[in-house]
Amino acid sequence: MLRGSRFVRPFKLPGTPNWQSSLTKGPPANTILFLGFLILAASLSSFWIHLSTFQINHSTNQTIVITDKNQNSPKIIEFPLNCTIGINQTQTCPTNYPTDFSSDHLDPSSIPICPDYFRFIYEDLKPWKTAGITRDMVERAKNTAHFRLVIVKGKAYIDKYKKSIQTRDVFTIWGILQLLRRYPGKVPDLELMFDCDDLPVIRSQDYRGPNSTRVPPLFRYCGDRWTKDIVFPDWSFWGWAEINIKPWGSLLKDVKKGNQRRKWMEREPYAYWKGNPFVAETRRDLLKCNVSDTQDWDVRLFIQDWILESQQGFKQSNVANQCTYRYKIYIEGYAWSVSEKYILACDSVTLLVKPHYYDFFTRSLQPVHHYWPIRDDNKCKSIKFAVNWGNNHKQKAHAIGKAASDFIQEELKMDFVYDYMFHLLNEYAKLLRFEPRVPEGATHLCSESLACPADESEKKFMTESLVKCPSVTNPCTMPPPYEPQALGNFYRNNINLIKQVEKWEDKYWDSIHNKQQ
Ligand SMILES: *[C@@H]1O[C@H](CO)[C@@H](O)[C@H](O)[C@H]1NC(C)=O
Ligand SMILES: *[C@@H]1O[C@H](CO)[C@@H](O)[C@H](O)[C@H]1NC(C)=O
Ligand SMILES: *[C@@H]1O[C@H](CO)[C@@H](O)[C@H](O)[C@H]1NC(C)=O
Ligand SMILES: *[C@@H]1O[C@H](CO)[C@@H](O)[C@H](O)[C@H]1NC(C)=O
Ligand SMILES: *[C@@H]1O[C@H](CO)[C@@H](O)[C@H](O)[C@H]1NC(C)=O
Repeated sequence: MLRGSRFVRPFKLPGTPNWQSSLTKGPPANTILFLGFLILAASLSSFWIHLSTFQINHSTNQTIVITDKNQNSPKIIEFPLNCTIGINQTQTCPTNYPTDFSSDHLDPSSIPICPDYFRFIYEDLKPWKTAGITRDMVERAKNTAHFRLVIVKGKAYIDKYKKSIQTRDVFTIWGILQLLRRYPGKVPDLELMFDCDDLPVIRSQDYRGPNSTRVPPLFRYCGDRWTKDIVFPDWSFWGWAEINIKPWGSLLKDVKKGNQRRKWMEREPYAYWKGNPFVAETRRDLLKCNVSDTQDWDVRLFIQDWILESQQGFKQSNVANQCTYRYKIYIEGYAWSVSEKYILACDSVTLLVKPHYYDFFTRSLQPVHHYWPIRDDNKCKSIKFAVNWGNNHKQKAHAIGKAASDFIQEELKMDFVYDYMFHLLNEYAKLLRFEPRVPEGATHLCSESLACPADESEKKFMTESLVKCPSVTNPCTMPPPYEPQALGNFYRNNINLIKQVEKWEDKYWDSIHNKQQ
């Protein structure tokens, strides 16, 4: 179960995405290796080009408030990318983007409260709540970090330490640059370490007792119960260029349209999964449940072959067109999988194989309300029961699918993803006990320095996800932290719901065995 995904490094290449993709016969391993290497090499070289062709530029001090009194609504001025090469033959950062933006004219009561999952920001930052974060702690997080992010006076500087898988680092940094464009003058000065790999590494067990005040703060995409890494939205929210997954903002709209094309009742009454089973033991185990001549667990599995897909223009891998089954299986890969949001968005019932990792938004999901829990040690029977239950309780099943897609459309829209980043960075910066400074050799980055020299597919996604102007509204208002007891109750309640489902499941299979005897 757990062992497979956590401890055994399965067949996974640096260039291989950790989810989705399809075909029964893959190309020979050495071809994959070679292509993986090519993709990696390409993404690396372009990142270095991005860094080397940019030049530091001082923005003018500008404060603007734009309101159109006649229409009583703010007038928006857009600032598109300016890739014009300056007189010195270098890509410069624009000087006309506002460095401060007042939204004080707004009625504070019109600002929404952030979704519940923002409350986990306090949980993630708890290790530093009393003593704060010293420079020494940050430096110790450098061990596994791919880059250091420094924000000073609204500008971002990157000190790059090592290459990341594919363009994870580039698109993560891109996302941060967009946050700065969205909220100019609002993101505080800070320094942080970011690790773009899959698995959390700051083990709680190493920071007990006298060491509890020495936890290195390290940002990454996912966490688990045994670690203290700080979770941050992953690169795919701005697009996953290598496998043609669009930026989240555009994809959300596509999925919404896709959902209307095929109503839940008309969808195939089976559990669907499409992905790369070779990244984790638990996924290989799932393959046993596929329909065959001799068995039918109501499971329909498909292997996604990204290399074939890329050759055929990604025709079969559009996630917005994959909402044609009533049930969709989510199963972790090497760690968490970015596929979760695409699956939850479908309006289908998400059959969630017991996860071991969380990302920034998944901790507020509730079993039976947002998804149906699936055992990881007896997957086929567990899924078969879930499908059977859903097909016999269609209204209830559809309501679960709807609750998940509503959650994704409303609470995980890009506005809130940016607000999550804002509040996380803001709360983090409050804890710093030193003055952030730009280290020697760090590179100042703006959207132009990343996007202008990028290759075609990356540039397309960057242009698509560009924040074109400052937000006319303030970030949402942080909800209060969980009372320890309330959080305990929340977890206990979830565990009880899962146990309840397991009881129903056992009863169902007992009754079938009894009938057969
Ligand atoms: C920048 O803006 C602030 C606030 O509007 C103002 O007080 C300050 O004098 C400005 N600085 C420069 C160099 O223009
Ligand atoms: C774009 O950048 C070039 C070179 O830095 C500059 O001359 C030009 O004025 C800029 N255009 C706009 C619309 O800001
Ligand atoms: C262009 O380069 C010259 C000499 O390197 C420098 O003095 C000048 O400031 C640069 N101009 C701009 C706009 O970067
Ligand atoms: C504290 O940290 C040191 C050095 O990292 C380690 O050797 C020691 O075992 C830790 N102590 C505890 C109680 O975890
Ligand atoms: C699962 O079975 C279906 C139907 O026979 C088949 O098309 C598909 O390729 C199988 N999937 C895997 C991963 O073997």
